[in-house]
Amino acid sequence: AQPIIIDTDPGQDDAVAIMLALASSELEVLGITAVAGNVPLALTEVNARKVCELAGRTDVKVYSGASRPLIRDLVTAEHVHGKTGLDGPELPEPQMKLQEQHAVDFIVETLMEREPGTVTLCPLGPLTNIALALNREPKIASRIKQIVLMGGGFFEGGNITPTAEFNIYVDPHAADVVLRSGVPIVMMPLDVTHKALTTRKRVDAIRNLGTRVGEATAEMLVFYERFDEEKYGSDGGPLHDPCVIAWLLKPDLFSGRKCNVTVETASELTLGMTVADWWGVTDRPANATFMRDIDHEGFFQHLTERLGRL
Ligand code: BDR
Ligand code: CA
Repeated sequence: AQPIIIDTDPGQDDAVAIMLALASSELEVLGITAVAGNVPLALTEVNARKVCELAGRTDVKVYSGASRPLIRDLVTAEHVHGKTGLDGPELPEPQMKLQEQHAVDFIVETLMEREPGTVTLCPLGPLTNIALALNREPKIASRIKQIVLMGGGFFEGGNITPTAEFNIYVDPHAADVVLRSGVPIVMMPLDVTHKALTTRKRVDAIRNLGTRVGEATAEMLVFYERFDEEKYGSDGGPLHDPCVIAWLLKPDLFSGRKCNVTVETASELTLGMTVADWWGVTDRPANATFMRDIDHEGFFQHLTERLGRL
């Protein structure tokens, strides 16, 4: 199985991504590292453990990481995810323990111990923990197999400012460290994730799995999608973070292009904007595979089948 570390700020869509990974024997989740993002760290680390317990995986190690971005103040997204970050289902307080080691130490130690080029990082929130790890031990850059992340947007614009996607906007300086790290990067931007909508039919299919996971996931998604439905009249909400895990399992569901991606860290107007040189009009070297399209029907079929395994 492919070893991965999931770095996350759950978040209903993070929760679905975590469950997709835990349901898939092709992947070995070495650990889940929590970061502040959708809600403060004190909630995201609890939510990560709740999700592991829901999936019946109390053996998974959950670590707590950065409580705030590198330089800026924390911006959260309760308007989308609710007060707890995981509003929707009633999930019990987790019994499983949080690991004592700091998330950043866990990331560094794992990468220094494991065979180089084997461990994939899957960031689903602001990139603070990943940037801190790269800054603390620059040697890890050449040991990471790849970073597959949810973040950014270019043709689609932004979801927290007109030009910035939430994960990148919250910690643009961390995103800058990651994009300049030289590690192979696969980016799932809004250009892709805004096409992965949780329609009524798709949520019903998950609810109809007839399991506790199916029921709780449907409750999460019904809560989560109300934001986009009320604000934009769209049929469902965008299931961002599971695209990262789905790419590891079924890369053919996605298409994109290798190009240079740079993040704006100075301008107040466009802070956190990811500028993708899709047309190769600069001589800046390609540093990421910027995804642009998804077979959303195939994605939801695959996701539902996998959740049915839990
Ligand atoms: C990203 O921001 C969060 O609200 C979601 O969990 C996702 O990771 C989408 O912009
Ligand atoms: Ca997230």
